[in-house]
Amino acid sequence: MSNFDIIIFVEDTNMKIIVTNNYEEASLEAFKVMKEIVANKPNAVLGLATGSTPLGLYKNMIEDHKTNGTSYKDITTFNLDEYVGLDRNHRESYYTFMHTNLFSGLDILEENVHLPFGNTQADCDAYEKAMEDYQVDVQLLGIGGNGHIGFNEPGTPFEKTTNIVELQERTRTDNARFFDNDINQVPTHAITMGIATIMKANKVLLVATGENKADAVKAMIEGVPSVDCPASALQNHKDVVVILDTAAASKLTK
Ligand code: PGA
Repeated sequence: MSNFDIIIFVEDTNMKIIVTNNYEEASLEAFKVMKEIVANKPNAVLGLATGSTPLGLYKNMIEDHKTNGTSYKDITTFNLDEYVGLDRNHRESYYTFMHTNLFSGLDILEENVHLPFGNTQADCDAYEKAMEDYQVDVQLLGIGGNGHIGFNEPGTPFEKTTNIVELQERTRTDNARFFDNDINQVPTHAITMGIATIMKANKVLLVATGENKADAVKAMIEGVPSVDCPASALQNHKDVVVILDTAAASKLTK
Protein backbone atom coordinates (compact mmCIF):
# COMPACT_ATOMS: atom_id res chain seq x y z
CA MET A 1 0.00 0.00 0.00
CA SER A 2 1.35 3.48 -0.78
CA ASN A 3 1.67 6.06 1.95
CA PHE A 4 -1.11 8.08 0.39
CA ASP A 5 -3.88 5.57 0.91
CA ILE A 6 -6.47 6.46 3.50
CA ILE A 7 -8.18 3.78 5.55
CA ILE A 8 -11.51 4.63 7.17
CA PHE A 9 -13.52 2.46 9.56
CA VAL A 10 -17.19 3.42 9.30
CA GLU A 11 -18.91 3.91 12.66
CA ASP A 12 -21.55 1.36 13.66
CA THR A 13 -20.71 -0.91 10.72
CA ASN A 14 -18.06 -3.49 9.91
CA MET A 15 -17.04 -1.57 6.81
CA LYS A 16 -13.42 -0.77 6.17
CA ILE A 17 -12.89 1.78 3.40
CA ILE A 18 -9.56 2.05 1.58
CA VAL A 19 -9.11 5.11 -0.61
CA THR A 20 -6.41 4.81 -3.24
CA ASN A 21 -5.18 7.26 -5.85
CA ASN A 22 -6.36 5.54 -9.00
CA TYR A 23 -7.75 2.42 -10.66
CA GLU A 24 -4.40 0.60 -10.76
CA GLU A 25 -3.85 1.07 -7.03
CA ALA A 26 -7.43 0.05 -6.27
CA SER A 27 -6.96 -3.11 -8.34
CA LEU A 28 -3.75 -3.90 -6.49
CA GLU A 29 -5.40 -3.45 -3.09
CA ALA A 30 -8.27 -5.71 -4.18
CA PHE A 31 -5.73 -8.28 -5.35
CA LYS A 32 -4.03 -8.27 -1.93
CA VAL A 33 -7.34 -9.14 -0.25
CA MET A 34 -8.07 -11.89 -2.76
CA LYS A 35 -4.53 -13.29 -2.64
CA GLU A 36 -4.57 -13.56 1.14
CA ILE A 37 -7.74 -15.63 0.99
CA VAL A 38 -6.55 -17.92 -1.80
CA ALA A 39 -3.09 -18.35 -0.24
CA ASN A 40 -4.52 -19.26 3.17
CA LYS A 41 -7.27 -21.48 1.86
CA PRO A 42 -6.42 -23.31 -1.38
CA ASN A 43 -10.01 -24.64 -1.62
CA ALA A 44 -11.64 -21.27 -1.02
CA VAL A 45 -15.00 -20.42 -2.56
CA LEU A 46 -14.93 -17.14 -4.45
CA GLY A 47 -17.96 -15.10 -5.42
CA LEU A 48 -17.00 -13.27 -8.60
CA ALA A 49 -18.23 -10.30 -10.59
CA THR A 50 -18.09 -8.94 -14.12
CA GLY A 51 -17.92 -5.41 -15.51
CA SER A 52 -15.01 -3.05 -16.07
CA THR A 53 -14.08 -2.79 -12.41
CA PRO A 54 -12.68 -6.30 -11.74
CA LEU A 55 -10.50 -6.39 -14.88
CA GLY A 56 -7.44 -4.98 -13.09
CA LEU A 57 -7.87 -7.40 -10.19
CA TYR A 58 -8.25 -10.32 -12.59
CA LYS A 59 -5.07 -9.29 -14.45
CA ASN A 60 -3.21 -9.28 -11.13
CA MET A 61 -4.58 -12.73 -10.26
CA ILE A 62 -3.46 -14.16 -13.61
CA GLU A 63 -0.05 -12.51 -13.33
CA ASP A 64 0.38 -13.90 -9.80
CA HIS A 65 -0.68 -17.37 -10.94
CA LYS A 66 1.86 -17.29 -13.79
CA THR A 67 4.68 -15.74 -11.77
CA ASN A 68 4.24 -17.26 -8.31
CA GLY A 69 2.32 -20.41 -9.14
CA THR A 70 -0.65 -19.57 -6.92
CA SER A 71 -2.99 -22.40 -7.79
CA TYR A 72 -6.74 -22.33 -8.35
CA LYS A 73 -7.16 -26.04 -8.99
CA ASP A 74 -9.14 -26.53 -5.77
CA ILE A 75 -10.92 -23.16 -5.91
CA THR A 76 -14.67 -23.01 -6.54
CA THR A 77 -16.36 -19.93 -7.98
CA PHE A 78 -19.91 -18.61 -8.15
CA ASN A 79 -20.64 -15.59 -10.30
CA LEU A 80 -23.14 -12.95 -9.34
CA ASP A 81 -25.23 -12.64 -12.43
CA GLU A 82 -25.81 -13.20 -16.13
CA TYR A 83 -27.90 -11.56 -18.82
CA VAL A 84 -31.13 -13.27 -19.79
CA GLY A 85 -31.54 -14.03 -23.47
CA LEU A 86 -27.89 -14.07 -24.51
CA ASP A 87 -26.34 -17.34 -25.54
CA ARG A 88 -23.56 -18.38 -23.18
CA ASN A 89 -21.16 -18.08 -26.09
CA HIS A 90 -22.30 -14.56 -27.01
CA ARG A 91 -19.28 -12.23 -26.83
CA GLU A 92 -20.96 -10.15 -24.10
CA SER A 93 -22.32 -12.98 -21.95
CA TYR A 94 -20.81 -13.04 -18.50
CA TYR A 95 -19.89 -16.67 -19.12
CA THR A 96 -17.69 -15.52 -22.00
CA PHE A 97 -16.42 -12.56 -19.99
CA MET A 98 -15.25 -14.75 -17.11
CA HIS A 99 -13.56 -17.30 -19.32
CA THR A 100 -11.84 -14.63 -21.43
CA ASN A 101 -10.74 -12.35 -18.61
CA LEU A 102 -9.98 -14.75 -15.78
CA PHE A 103 -10.56 -18.48 -16.01
CA SER A 104 -8.50 -19.02 -19.18
CA GLY A 105 -5.50 -17.53 -17.37
CA LEU A 106 -5.74 -19.75 -14.29
CA ASP A 107 -5.55 -23.50 -13.58
CA ILE A 108 -9.15 -23.48 -12.33
CA LEU A 109 -11.24 -26.53 -13.23
CA GLU A 110 -14.30 -25.93 -15.39
CA GLU A 111 -16.40 -28.17 -13.14
CA ASN A 112 -15.72 -25.83 -10.21
CA VAL A 113 -16.93 -22.76 -12.07
CA HIS A 114 -20.57 -21.68 -11.64
CA LEU A 115 -22.56 -18.92 -13.30
CA PRO A 116 -26.31 -18.49 -13.08
CA PHE A 117 -28.16 -19.11 -16.31
CA GLY A 118 -31.76 -19.11 -17.49
CA ASN A 119 -34.94 -17.13 -17.17
CA THR A 120 -37.25 -19.10 -14.88
CA GLN A 121 -37.78 -19.35 -11.14
CA ALA A 122 -36.59 -22.96 -11.42
CA ASP A 123 -33.28 -21.70 -12.83
CA CYS A 124 -32.97 -19.30 -9.88
CA ASP A 125 -33.79 -22.04 -7.37
CA ALA A 126 -31.25 -24.36 -8.99
CA TYR A 127 -28.52 -21.75 -8.55
CA GLU A 128 -29.40 -21.17 -4.89
CA LYS A 129 -29.40 -24.93 -4.37
CA ALA A 130 -26.00 -25.30 -6.02
CA MET A 131 -24.64 -22.68 -3.60
CA GLU A 132 -26.15 -24.35 -0.54
CA ASP A 133 -23.33 -26.88 -0.32
CA TYR A 134 -20.72 -24.13 -0.15
CA GLN A 135 -19.79 -21.18 2.02
CA VAL A 136 -18.56 -18.25 -0.04
CA ASP A 137 -15.32 -17.00 1.53
CA VAL A 138 -15.27 -13.70 -0.30
CA GLN A 139 -17.82 -12.08 -2.57
CA LEU A 140 -16.36 -9.58 -5.00
CA LEU A 141 -18.70 -6.75 -5.99
CA GLY A 142 -18.75 -3.69 -8.19
CA ILE A 143 -21.45 -1.10 -7.68
CA GLY A 144 -23.76 0.37 -10.30
CA GLY A 145 -24.06 4.10 -10.78
CA ASN A 146 -27.55 3.63 -9.33
CA GLY A 147 -26.27 1.70 -6.30
CA HIS A 148 -27.02 -1.78 -7.59
CA ILE A 149 -24.99 -4.80 -6.51
CA GLY A 150 -25.15 -7.77 -8.80
CA PHE A 151 -28.16 -6.74 -10.86
CA ASN A 152 -30.24 -5.92 -7.78
CA GLU A 153 -31.64 -2.61 -8.90
CA PRO A 154 -32.99 0.10 -6.55
CA GLY A 155 -36.27 -1.04 -5.00
CA THR A 156 -35.15 -4.66 -4.60
CA PRO A 157 -36.06 -6.02 -1.14
CA PHE A 158 -32.97 -7.04 0.82
CA GLU A 159 -34.56 -10.48 1.46
CA LYS A 160 -34.42 -11.58 -2.19
CA THR A 161 -32.39 -14.62 -3.16
CA THR A 162 -31.42 -15.44 -6.77
CA ASN A 163 -34.06 -13.93 -9.04
CA ILE A 164 -34.84 -12.63 -12.50
CA VAL A 165 -34.79 -8.85 -12.73
CA GLU A 166 -35.69 -6.20 -15.23
CA LEU A 167 -32.73 -3.89 -15.80
CA GLN A 168 -33.24 -0.19 -15.27
CA GLU A 169 -32.61 2.27 -18.06
CA ARG A 170 -29.56 3.68 -16.23
CA THR A 171 -27.97 0.23 -16.07
CA ARG A 172 -28.71 -0.50 -19.72
CA THR A 173 -27.32 2.91 -20.73
CA ASP A 174 -24.18 2.28 -18.61
CA ASN A 175 -23.70 -1.10 -20.29
CA ALA A 176 -24.46 0.01 -23.85
CA ARG A 177 -20.72 0.65 -24.26
CA PHE A 178 -20.27 -3.12 -24.51
CA PHE A 179 -23.03 -3.39 -27.15
CA ASP A 180 -21.84 -0.98 -29.90
CA ASN A 181 -23.20 1.91 -27.79
CA ASP A 182 -26.67 0.75 -28.78
CA ILE A 183 -29.03 0.43 -25.81
CA ASN A 184 -31.41 -1.66 -27.95
CA GLN A 185 -28.84 -4.45 -28.03
CA VAL A 186 -28.52 -4.51 -24.23
CA PRO A 187 -30.68 -7.28 -22.74
CA THR A 188 -33.68 -6.10 -20.74
CA HIS A 189 -33.47 -8.80 -18.06
CA ALA A 190 -30.86 -10.62 -16.01
CA ILE A 191 -30.60 -13.47 -13.52
CA THR A 192 -28.81 -12.37 -10.36
CA MET A 193 -27.93 -13.53 -6.88
CA GLY A 194 -30.22 -11.62 -4.54
CA ILE A 195 -29.01 -9.34 -1.79
CA ALA A 196 -29.75 -12.08 0.76
CA THR A 197 -27.54 -14.45 -1.26
CA ILE A 198 -24.73 -11.90 -1.33
CA MET A 199 -25.04 -11.24 2.42
CA LYS A 200 -24.30 -14.90 3.21
CA ALA A 201 -20.66 -14.52 2.13
CA ASN A 202 -18.07 -14.49 4.92
CA LYS A 203 -16.50 -11.38 3.50
CA VAL A 204 -17.48 -8.80 0.90
CA LEU A 205 -14.91 -7.00 -1.24
CA LEU A 206 -16.42 -4.08 -3.14
CA VAL A 207 -14.38 -2.04 -5.58
CA ALA A 208 -15.54 1.24 -7.09
CA THR A 209 -13.61 3.78 -9.11
CA GLY A 210 -14.50 6.88 -11.08
CA GLU A 211 -16.76 9.84 -10.55
CA ASN A 212 -19.78 8.01 -12.02
CA LYS A 213 -19.84 5.94 -8.80
CA ALA A 214 -19.44 8.77 -6.27
CA ASP A 215 -23.15 9.25 -5.48
CA ALA A 216 -23.76 5.51 -5.14
CA VAL A 217 -20.70 5.13 -2.90
CA LYS A 218 -21.91 7.92 -0.64
CA ALA A 219 -25.39 6.38 -0.36
CA MET A 220 -23.87 2.94 0.33
CA ILE A 221 -21.62 4.17 3.15
CA GLU A 222 -23.25 7.27 4.59
CA GLY A 223 -26.92 6.81 3.72
CA VAL A 224 -29.53 5.17 5.92
CA PRO A 225 -29.77 1.58 4.62
CA SER A 226 -32.68 1.50 2.19
CA VAL A 227 -33.81 -0.29 -0.92
CA ASP A 228 -33.16 2.97 -2.78
CA CYS A 229 -29.48 2.02 -2.65
CA PRO A 230 -29.16 -1.78 -2.73
CA ALA A 231 -25.47 -1.56 -1.75
CA SER A 232 -26.45 0.11 1.55
CA ALA A 233 -27.54 -3.36 2.74
CA LEU A 234 -23.82 -4.01 3.18
CA GLN A 235 -23.80 -1.73 6.24
CA ASN A 236 -25.31 -4.73 8.02
CA HIS A 237 -22.72 -7.24 6.81
CA LYS A 238 -20.14 -8.51 9.27
CA ASP A 239 -17.02 -7.95 7.16
CA VAL A 240 -16.88 -5.54 4.23
CA VAL A 241 -13.81 -4.05 2.56
CA VAL A 242 -14.58 -1.20 0.17
CA ILE A 243 -11.75 -0.11 -2.12
CA LEU A 244 -12.15 3.23 -3.85
CA ASP A 245 -10.18 5.71 -5.86
CA THR A 246 -10.30 9.39 -4.95
CA ALA A 247 -12.98 10.12 -7.58
CA ALA A 248 -15.37 7.46 -6.26
CA ALA A 249 -14.68 8.67 -2.70
CA SER A 250 -15.08 12.35 -3.57
CA LYS A 251 -18.59 12.76 -2.14
CA LEU A 252 -17.90 11.12 1.23
CA THR A 253 -18.19 13.71 3.96
CA LYS A 254 -17.94 11.93 7.27
P1 PGA B 1 -18.68 -1.66 -13.87
O1 PGA B 1 -20.05 -2.21 -13.34
O2 PGA B 1 -17.62 -2.39 -13.12
O3 PGA B 1 -18.64 -1.98 -15.33
O4 PGA B 1 -18.66 -0.20 -13.59
C1 PGA B 1 -20.27 -2.38 -11.99
C2 PGA B 1 -21.70 -2.79 -11.76
O5 PGA B 1 -22.58 -2.38 -12.54
O6 PGA B 1 -21.96 -3.52 -10.79
